Amino acid sequence: MKHENDPLAALWMPFTANRAFKAQPRQLKAAKDMHYTSDDGRQILDGTAGLWAVNAGHCRAPIVEAIQKCAAELDYAPPFQLGNPRAFELASRVAAIMPDGIDRVFFTNSGSESVDTALKIALAYQRARGEGTRTRLIGRERGYNGVGFGGISVGGIVNNRRQFGTLLTGVDHLPHTHDLAHNAFTRDRPAWGAHLADTLESIVALHGAETIAAVIVEPMAGSTGVLVPPIGYLEKLREISSKYGIVLIFDEVITGFGRVGGATASETLGVTPDIITMAKGLTNAAVPMGAVAVGRHIHDAVIEGTPDGIELFHGYTYSGHPLAAAAGLATLELYKSEGIWEHAASLHAYWEEAVHSLKGKRHIIDIRNIGIVAGIELEPRVGAPTKRATELFHKCFDNGLLVRAAGDIIALSPPLILEKAHIDEMVGRIADMVETID
Ligand SMILES: Cc1ncc(COP(=O)(O)O)c(C=O)c1O
Repeated sequence: MKHENDPLAALWMPFTANRAFKAQPRQLKAAKDMHYTSDDGRQILDGTAGLWAVNAGHCRAPIVEAIQKCAAELDYAPPFQLGNPRAFELASRVAAIMPDGIDRVFFTNSGSESVDTALKIALAYQRARGEGTRTRLIGRERGYNGVGFGGISVGGIVNNRRQFGTLLTGVDHLPHTHDLAHNAFTRDRPAWGAHLADTLESIVALHGAETIAAVIVEPMAGSTGVLVPPIGYLEKLREISSKYGIVLIFDEVITGFGRVGGATASETLGVTPDIITMAKGLTNAAVPMGAVAVGRHIHDAVIEGTPDGIELFHGYTYSGHPLAAAAGLATLELYKSEGIWEHAASLHAYWEEAVHSLKGKRHIIDIRNIGIVAGIELEPRVGAPTKRATELFHKCFDNGLLVRAAGDIIALSPPLILEKAHIDEMVGRIADMVETID
């Protein structure tokens, strides 16, 4: 066994059909700006910003240089009882671009850790303010909140849950907002569906507000296939959670850093939660890092409500890692100096028009968009759901375009440095390829 000579055998790949991949591997060996280079030397237009993450484009010089400089200067510093200046500076920079009132920042290494951290902070807050009976957590069907036990418990994707036992207890779910009968081919936010937030009232009526700590939703559900929030929906969630003392958490791991407009979807959509989770675009994905931005009232209740000593028994060896902080600082600077979010926003209308031009093409039963995000839903093949989108993903990749298949939905979320020609190329390639699959 030790002399196995298949070089792909040892790696157990995440969220991958390992046998299928290893029978027909596709690898990326380099990247620059809007493109990947495949291991067979082809240029692949990146229609997904890696995994909703590389918002400033690939291998950008200022980020590369900041990481290199930091690696030579300070490789690592323990974050417990000690600090490193870049982490403090990045926390201040992140706080400055959060909505008003959300200005304390806890660092993690991923979106999943950000979600579990946010849930723990919400529980600690309720306890600190004398509401320790509030332990119940509310998520949403079709939510993707990462893969920690907290995240899959509040998340609502059956395949991410069914292999893993009982999960957290005391969790309930809101209904998702996806409904083709009412909302197919809506541009931006659909008019139908705000009333689905009222289920939070029903959950309160069922369990009692004094048992509920927090509710977590993605403002725009990305991984489950681009579910854009109905007009008025997030506002209702805000109103009901405030009314009953429930902490409202927006999982902005995908929607932050210019993806739907401003620094956060909260800002762009005009609804301020109590806690915001982030990752991905924070460092342009160049070094793993996540963060949780916390409302001042929550932070202060935990910090001031605790006797001397450690206030929150939580943290990671790599919280605020110098390399990640260096990457984060350079990334935020680049977004600003190049006006990347404004540039992307100037293309929103063009993007919307272009992706909706795919209406009427073979298999396509819905198209959704917000910011520089699109979801193109394919009719599932009878008896073989998800296969059609997987085939389209492969066809596109083999023809120079990276898209993401989520169930039977193709998701697009390219780097925000894109130009109109890239949009035309993406849409044209999908139009051609979708005709070639059964
Ligand atoms: C909304 C949301 N939350 C959490 C996560 C998990 O992030 P990570 O894969 O960095 O753990 C993701 C990943 O796509 C996400 O989209």
